[in-house]
Amino acid sequence: MQYTYDDYIKARDAIRDRIGDFRPEVLLILGSGLGFLADEAETPIYVPYGEIPGFKSSTAPGHNGRLVFGRFCGKNAVFMQGRLHCYEGYSMEEVAFPVRVIRLLGADRVVVTNAAGCVNTEWHTGELMLISDHIRLFGFSPLTGPNIPEFGPRFNDQSDVYTAEYRKIAGEEAEKLGIVLREGVYMYFPGPQYETPAEIRAARVLGADAVGMSTVPEMIGASHAGMKILGISVLSNMAAGVLPVKLSEQDVIDAAEAAAEHFSKLIRACVGRM
Ligand code: HPA
Repeated sequence: MQYTYDDYIKARDAIRDRIGDFRPEVLLILGSGLGFLADEAETPIYVPYGEIPGFKSSTAPGHNGRLVFGRFCGKNAVFMQGRLHCYEGYSMEEVAFPVRVIRLLGADRVVVTNAAGCVNTEWHTGELMLISDHIRLFGFSPLTGPNIPEFGPRFNDQSDVYTAEYRKIAGEEAEKLGIVLREGVYMYFPGPQYETPAEIRAARVLGADAVGMSTVPEMIGASHAGMKILGISVLSNMAAGVLPVKLSEQDVIDAAEAAAEHFSKLIRACVGRM
């Protein structure tokens, strides 16, 4: 479906009715196995996606479907506990819808996280990767269709989607915490099937370090709306064909959960400085 600006405003106003005068500054989008971080929000207010006009529900395993508003690391935060994916049957525009609504609530910073397959053979499962840039060769764009100038321009610059200043902060904080933090390019695949070994070899040639089925639709929307972005992947498995094993969804969730402690410490340290 094609949303109009009015649809975004209606969703924003429905949320405002629930959160009163709380104004989020930072949005945190939590990927597979990482939703626990929203439980750390102080004095939380929960708003289920199903109660917000225009919001679709998250059907993916390991994802709830609600916004959690609260104080987190000294900031007014909103967590998307559960995110949407195109493989659930949603368009890129539908997947990006919540992010643009939250922009209208005032948040101008995003922390986006995901579990990703590791394409770079020098790196290891369980490590974290700072997203320096992304590749989206498949699917349309959340910005396809009439432009909504209230968000941003028709032809949006994407030279610095993953904000350099935030990457510097994350690098410094990881070093202080003694956490291995890789930095690389995330390539979007629409899924839901995992990639073939040949697709992974192609991704590597194109410059990808990690692959996954999320993040990019929302971050195109966030970047268009002028949000500053910190993106972190948990390298939950070696991508298809790197090792002589089959990929399983449970392994992805288990690996993300195993990285949870590092992940949580790093995110907290970064949000404090954003
Ligand atoms: N491919 C795509 N998406 C993923 C993977 C993968 O190997 N691991 C976690 N999400």
